[in-house]
Amino acid sequence: MITAGSLNGMVGDFLFDERVRTERAELEKLGESAAPLFDRADTEALNALINEHDRDITGRLLVLDTSGKVHLDTDHELTGTVFESEEVDAIVRRGQSVSFGVHESDTGRMVNTQGILFTLNPSGAWNSYCSARLVSRDEVIGVLMLISPVTDMMTGLFSFRRQMILIFVLVALAAVAVGFLFASVLTKPVSDMTKVIQRMSKGNFKLRVPEKGAGEVRHLASAFNSMSEKLEALDETRNQFVANASHELKTPLAAMKVLIESLVYQPDMDKSLRIEFLQDVNKEIDRLSAIVSDLLTLVRMDAGSLQLHLETLCVGDLVEENAHRLNTMVRKRGQTLNIDVQDDCETQGDRGKLNQIIYNLMENAIKYTQDGGEIDVTLVREDGNAVFSVKDNGPGIPADALPHIFERFYRVDKARSRETGGTGLGLSIVKQLIALHDGSVRVESEEGKGSTFIAEIPIKEE
Ligand SMILES: Nc1ncnc2c1ncn2[C@@H]1O[C@H](COP(=O)(O)OP(=O)(O)OP(=O)(O)O)[C@@H](O)[C@H]1O
Ligand SMILES: [Mg+2]
Repeated sequence: MITAGSLNGMVGDFLFDERVRTERAELEKLGESAAPLFDRADTEALNALINEHDRDITGRLLVLDTSGKVHLDTDHELTGTVFESEEVDAIVRRGQSVSFGVHESDTGRMVNTQGILFTLNPSGAWNSYCSARLVSRDEVIGVLMLISPVTDMMTGLFSFRRQMILIFVLVALAAVAVGFLFASVLTKPVSDMTKVIQRMSKGNFKLRVPEKGAGEVRHLASAFNSMSEKLEALDETRNQFVANASHELKTPLAAMKVLIESLVYQPDMDKSLRIEFLQDVNKEIDRLSAIVSDLLTLVRMDAGSLQLHLETLCVGDLVEENAHRLNTMVRKRGQTLNIDVQDDCETQGDRGKLNQIIYNLMENAIKYTQDGGEIDVTLVREDGNAVFSVKDNGPGIPADALPHIFERFYRVDKARSRETGGTGLGLSIVKQLIALHDGSVRVESEEGKGSTFIAEIPIKEE
């Protein structure tokens, strides 16, 4: 509004400037010729001079004395009256040589061009008053005044004012609209995200936010979505884990319930059968505790709380120990177990966890290979790694199962491995324990031709 006002004033000044300059100059010149005539009270000559000029200009000329009394009016109307105006005062009392002002015709009210924005009567008639002093012997003896119509100029100014106000209002509206748009472009995605986060915190991880907008907001949305995807996957894994774990725990419990119910409802059961049932219950308890300890290991690994207790040990000794532990099982199955320790592979490692790795891989080979099968266990040192491999001539693993073999609860043949007592946790634990030792594990297998599991663990010296 202030800018509009000052712009309006500037245009007003510009429009009037030329007119003011010419009127002042002409009037001053005329004043110089008229002053001696007025001084001599040569009314006739003064009339002739003024009327001659009146013909060339639009408006009316007045000659006033220093008290404001009109001595000559080219329109005759004001002759003899006292004419009070700012422009006369400026000359008589304030000692100016010329003055200029714009007045409303009806009321005589004066405005300045800067104030036109606030003038309320745009349809009125307007005059300009231009005055110049009459000087004789260095003394102001009167005032020469030109009153001329400036209505056209004022109408132009008023219409300019209207346009200015319109432009100002439009610009202000546009600024407000742009402000709203900007705020909504910027805040809408953020508030959408807040809503999604609130809904996610109630457990719904399937939600995503639209990746629109530009720059940082878009990056934020895409980072948020990839985080949501990971959360969803994590949630799914967790649910799967709980479901699988409960299922695995329920199986031995159900078996135990059947066995114990038989014992309870058949009190006169044959003694040898009773012992057999109790031995079965005992086996189920062993299975249950094995599953629970596997689950605990996994949970601890997930929480990052499973720590390595490092000591200097020979991996070769561990291989021999485990072969010894598994010997009874091998013999029972009529299998051949060949142990080939080419290097002791002395290293810094966690005895319990390395034993678990070796045992699990060897136990699998024995478990899944047919009676009378052959298992070759090798330990060599290669490029600073202890390379431990377990090769069998068992059923092998189908190609489509190979990528899943190290996943939790994954079993190739669900029914058959249940018979052998597996829960599908062994290899996933092996993989994580090896990773804890900075090593890696892989499998090479072909269906019907046997499998080879190869674990590589870096040898660390003290
Ligand atoms: N040497 C192998 N030959 C053929 N199949 C194997 C062999 N080792 C593992 N598998 C297959 O991989 C699956 C996963 O093995 P993993 O050791 O993880 O579980 P599991 O032996 O069934 O149960 P757990 O080891 O938890 O008692 C097994 O169920 C079996 O189908
Ligand atoms: Mg196993």
